[in-house]
Amino acid sequence: MSKRIGILTGGGDCPGLNAVIRAVVRKSVLKYDYQVLGILKGWLGLMEYGLTEELNLDKVSGIIHRGGTILKTSRTNPFKEKDGVKRIIEKVRALELSAIIAVGGEDTLGVAAKLAEEGVEVVGVPKTIDNDIWGTDYTFGFDTSVNIAMDAIDRIHTTAESHNRVMVVEVMGRHTGWIAIEAGIAGGADFILIPEKPVDLHKVCEAICKRHERRRDFSIVVVAEGAKITTPDNGTTKEVEVVQNEEKDSFGHVRLGGIGKVLATEIQKRTGFETRFVILGYVQRGGTPTAFDRMLGTRFGVAAVDLVHRGEFGKMVTLEGNKIGSITLKEATSKTKRIDDELYEIAQVFFG
Ligand code: F6P
Repeated sequence: MSKRIGILTGGGDCPGLNAVIRAVVRKSVLKYDYQVLGILKGWLGLMEYGLTEELNLDKVSGIIHRGGTILKTSRTNPFKEKDGVKRIIEKVRALELSAIIAVGGEDTLGVAAKLAEEGVEVVGVPKTIDNDIWGTDYTFGFDTSVNIAMDAIDRIHTTAESHNRVMVVEVMGRHTGWIAIEAGIAGGADFILIPEKPVDLHKVCEAICKRHERRRDFSIVVVAEGAKITTPDNGTTKEVEVVQNEEKDSFGHVRLGGIGKVLATEIQKRTGFETRFVILGYVQRGGTPTAFDRMLGTRFGVAAVDLVHRGEFGKMVTLEGNKIGSITLKEATSKTKRIDDELYEIAQVFFG
């Protein structure tokens, strides 16, 4: 009897997910004669019944260019649900799945790592526009969002220049500033704020003022949603993070967003320059993936099936340089890949 494997996509949607699904199905069916079962809505689909769909070559035809995920997604944490893990183990057995390919970011892969320890045969594929998964140089989705953000910065330059304004562009990036740094450098930003490097507002305003003293009459500031601003507080320094909603999801995350507005208000108040803000939000995750993300998703999907075939469970596929490799899910989820000083120093060359 041929093997049957399951695939699910969890966490925020991301350009390139369909490229992974397509590659997993084609490699499984054509090379190894496996059957593939699509599990809908991330880990939720492995806890509840009725959330599966057989995948064949027809089902994955014509999807590589489409954003989002044909398998739907959710931010479900089985470790927070009643009997969540037990239900998953029973369901994997009932569906006769010999392996699960879990495509997701830190949360989905964190669940995969813990399930692997419980004996579930799982392989991970790193997905996130935030590009913050440890052990892989790139996650798919990141390149598309950087290009969307860069394009937005290019367009925002028009208003900044014409109106002599400071424009603050808020991009995604919960724990890390990868999108902000890359889109900011590529888009010619005059200051970039990232979660890894909390800065005093005074520094931002000083850089803008210096730039305007050199007879530049507009500025672009790029800020990651998770960036922190520092303020003096009774002889010490206090870090301020702006959240939209204090309520935590099942992985313990608050909803970020809004630092762009805070920054714009403060910059206008302190410098006197007319300042506006734009929050790019979900535009960065939407629509068609770039060629890079389609390629990376495809390579990851093919490699994940090879890991299953070799019985290398509890691992995640990676990109190291231009080579596909793998590391254990445990290691991949043990830390966050942050911006290093070298890259930040490059960004700083263009501040002010
Ligand atoms: O994890 C990727 C990400 O895009 C973060 O940058 C952002 O904070 C989060 O998803 C928002 O996701 P949602 O609002 O869909 O939960």
